[in-house]
Amino acid sequence: MSQTIIPVETEHHDEKAGDRLCMSRRQFLLTGGATVALVSLGALPGSAEAAQALKASYPRQRIGSLAALKKGVPLPFNYPYSDVRNILVKLGVEAGGGAGPQKDIVAFNQQCTHMGGPLDGTYKDKYQALGPCPLHLTTFDLTHHGMVISGQATDSLPQIVLEIQGDDIYAVGVMGLVYGYSAMTTQRKA
Ligand code: FES
Repeated sequence: MSQTIIPVETEHHDEKAGDRLCMSRRQFLLTGGATVALVSLGALPGSAEAAQALKASYPRQRIGSLAALKKGVPLPFNYPYSDVRNILVKLGVEAGGGAGPQKDIVAFNQQCTHMGGPLDGTYKDKYQALGPCPLHLTTFDLTHHGMVISGQATDSLPQIVLEIQGDDIYAVGVMGLVYGYSAMTTQRKA
């Protein structure tokens, strides 16, 4: 399947094949001093389906190390802002957008895309899933760019774009809109 990529104009991040990922059906951006790109995505693992997504790049931030990351044990971190909660997790299976030698290291926002329910502490390593959300039970598949498995939400979880340099793991961007942020702005909804 052919793909068209609009180059990312950023000094912080070079587009790589493994970074083409994720989707928000609302196709909004989480931006703010960020460089924005519209990317025609590659297919998900095992799927021929392609999707469009908007991607926001941010100054990269070290969020962990390969040596310290244990399979199935999520590490919380905030990115790109101090109030945006995410997890970094080694799934143990190859994942869409996965980083690292096994392409199994991913990071996702922890606020449910339905109404912002807290997904903190809900990672299920048996299923590589986040959820169910305590409000309306949505569960998200972390092997497939945070797609909804079941529940009220319709949008995938925002996926944090990762880069590996040596033993260090960096966050370099966000795919999708973090709940509570308006499109194309850093401001929370009124
Ligand atoms: S807020 Fe998570 S399912 Fe409604």
